[in-house]
Amino acid sequence: MADQKFRTRITDLFGIEHPIVCGGMMWLGDAEYTSAVARAGGIGFITPRSFPTPEDFREQLRKAHDLSDGKPFGVNLYISARSEANQMLQIFLDIAIEERVRFVETAGFSPKEFMPKIKDAGMTVMHKCTTLRHARSAQNAGVDAVAILGAEAGGHPGMDMIGTMVQGAVVPQELDVPVVLAGGMGTGRQLVACLALGAHGMLVATRMVVAAEIWAHENYKKRLSELGPSDTKIIMSIFGDNSRVIGNHSSEAVLSLEAEGNKDYEAYRPYVQGNLQRKAYVDGDWTRGTMSVGQSVAFAGEIEPVGTIIDGIMDEATVVRERLNRF
Ligand SMILES: Cc1cc2nc3c(=O)[nH]c(=O)nc-3n(C[C@H](O)[C@H](O)[C@H](O)COP(=O)(O)O)c2cc1C
Repeated sequence: MADQKFRTRITDLFGIEHPIVCGGMMWLGDAEYTSAVARAGGIGFITPRSFPTPEDFREQLRKAHDLSDGKPFGVNLYISARSEANQMLQIFLDIAIEERVRFVETAGFSPKEFMPKIKDAGMTVMHKCTTLRHARSAQNAGVDAVAILGAEAGGHPGMDMIGTMVQGAVVPQELDVPVVLAGGMGTGRQLVACLALGAHGMLVATRMVVAAEIWAHENYKKRLSELGPSDTKIIMSIFGDNSRVIGNHSSEAVLSLEAEGNKDYEAYRPYVQGNLQRKAYVDGDWTRGTMSVGQSVAFAGEIEPVGTIIDGIMDEATVVRERLNRF
């Protein structure tokens, strides 16, 4: 990595060229995409539940090894608060260990129950969470890094809805482990801002959905490329599970149910079920399904290869750093 432009504790921890972490993306985080991120100098995470069977997941890991030019990639484990719902995760973790994956991104709930297995296998784990309290407890549980999410994030930004700017100014100062800042990210200017705030890297997800290597239908990506920061909705607050998604028929329907005070989950199911999201990616009909989209969709203006997106971020960060040096 002779021409490494930004070396941080995160590039050292993951053994990557750039301090760019690409968060796991349900249905979309496959070998093709994750290895493109690896080749471009960042790190991405394969989402095991995106594949029909554990053996299909294993195939993806093998394919990612083949396509990554020996560069690192990881596995995303989205942990449920209900322990019984996490049985599959143990199987996914075993497969990841058998297939010599060295990096894990955990999210959703405390990684504590998985830490012994992760550490026995010598893996490095980054836990993604939304409050300083959760970040501290992940650090105490032994994680190697924390990704802290701000309210702008696609997916689950948490219930406190703390802005990324505040998270960045608070959390890195309070932790000993390196911190990656997330939520609303997509530019080189923001990467420099993350580092200025004291974070050691930047995490992107929504920005990458329009990448050429993402298998989603062209019409879905085209729609995202037209959207701005006002085009997302926060749904499911009524269940204490904020979710930032694309503004469309389904998210409006969910918001109407919430406005009525309806707390019967079955009423929501036709709009929020996961296979509807997958269907939107398959057929490009973005009007149905509650697909995760963050405010950073504003930066997803063009369908282009992962390498072009990451190079663009790094080139801009380099220019911005030079500009700041002149002040
Ligand atoms: C399409 C999509 C799917 C996602 N699926 C997952 C997932 O399966 N597991 C997870 O930990 N986070 C998931 N996330 C959250 C991201 O990894 C990341 O934390 C968040 O999107 C960062 O905010 P940003 O979208 O503004 O970059 C998803 C996000 C998107 C946009």
